Amino acid sequence: MKPKMQPDKAVIFSGAGLSAESGLPTFRDADGLWNNHSWFELASPQAWASQPEVVQAFYNERRHKAWEAQPNAAHLAIAALEATCEVVVITQNVDALHERAGSTQVIHLHGELAWARGTSAEPKRYHLGGESIAMGQCCEDGTQLRPDVVWFGEQTRNMDVARRHLRNAGKVLVVGTSLTVHPAASLLGAVHYMAQKVLIAKERPEAMPPRFHFACGNAATLVPRLIQRWSSALSCI
Ligand code: APR
Repeated sequence: MKPKMQPDKAVIFSGAGLSAESGLPTFRDADGLWNNHSWFELASPQAWASQPEVVQAFYNERRHKAWEAQPNAAHLAIAALEATCEVVVITQNVDALHERAGSTQVIHLHGELAWARGTSAEPKRYHLGGESIAMGQCCEDGTQLRPDVVWFGEQTRNMDVARRHLRNAGKVLVVGTSLTVHPAASLLGAVHYMAQKVLIAKERPEAMPPRFHFACGNAATLVPRLIQRWSSALSCI
């Protein structure tokens, strides 16, 4: 049965472009990480097996930079919307900028850079913030600590709960993503056909999700404007 749409529930689906104005690189823009590094040699189980110290160093540097970065106006506007309605953030990003801006419902699909985990079947997680992981630094079960992020070929997390929120949201903002990575991008097929649907990015994704309005520009400029419009409309209910 089609879930009932909740007009005053907002879901934000974010990607690396949301954190670009906080100084963190995206992946596929001209200066993106995967245009200057091989994702297969840095973000795959095969890379971890063959050169773990290189992978560890790559993520240590990213973790430190992500922890030094500050939430931008877009993160802050998304967090402030919680004063007006239910807001659920579904993010492909591994930084903690949504949480540090004040968002309280954040679902990470690709893991979290500020956390480390063991490499056993039932790994334990440890919060690091911006700290490095050393080779030889082990989990309490004795296994080597690794970044608690999802590498290419590993299972994307929280897909079911993310899909449930997208199914009944009355407002959906997709921001700062090229929608090129699946299964994350496929989640947008769950959006209720009656929901308000906006996509903000600097370039129109090749695979625009159906019935989304595309707004071309910077997230730190366009997201606060959209959130202001949503808040004004909701506050007069
Ligand atoms: N404001 C708004 N959008 C921006 C900005 C900005 N300041 N800067 C860049 N963008 C947009 C680009 O137009 C592009 O559409 O952000 C998007 C970034 O796309 P990608 O670099 O592909 O990042 P993302 O879509 O988040 O990648 C998804 O790929 O490698 C994996 O795990 C990684 O989670 C990541 C996934």
